[in-house]
Amino acid sequence: MKEKTRENINKAFIGEAKAYFRLLAYARKAEEEDVPQAALLFRAIAEAEKVHAGRQLNLVKDLLVQDTDSNLLASFKREKSISENDYPEFIKVAEEEGEKAAALAFSQARDAETFHAKLYERALYNVIRNKVEAYHVCQVCGYVTDKNAPEKCPVCGAAKENFKTVV
Ligand SMILES: [Fe+2]
Ligand SMILES: [Fe+2]
Repeated sequence: MKEKTRENINKAFIGEAKAYFRLLAYARKAEEEDVPQAALLFRAIAEAEKVHAGRQLNLVKDLLVQDTDSNLLASFKREKSISENDYPEFIKVAEEEGEKAAALAFSQARDAETFHAKLYERALYNVIRNKVEAYHVCQVCGYVTDKNAPEKCPVCGAAKENFKTVV
């Protein structure tokens, strides 16, 4: 694929993926304001933007998606880099600016990413001794475990009910 088009696909994908989440937030607001028709419209268009994002991602899948070992390695590296480089910088700036909620969200995301990295690393080196039947994902901070959902999330302290099971 030609470079400019690839860059544009990347931009379009980011825009569509962001729109998906933004429209769902708009839909929740419309529900709060008791405007169900607007909420429904936002949810419908959010689904449409998800279609666009998926279709655009599909155009570059040969560049992005490799064999599973390579994908595990790339994901491990990405988690490591984001938790060791990006988030610490974001946390520093948020603290300097007195943005406490952002600093907390970044620091919990950083901590959760380090757990993600460990899970990838373990999968990568095939050291999973027992087959994993399910993962549990904290819906507050994104911490992931293959053990039972803990009573309290080790990263953010959220209660067990906040875990979503992925099978
Ligand atoms: Fe992650
Ligand atoms: Fe959590």
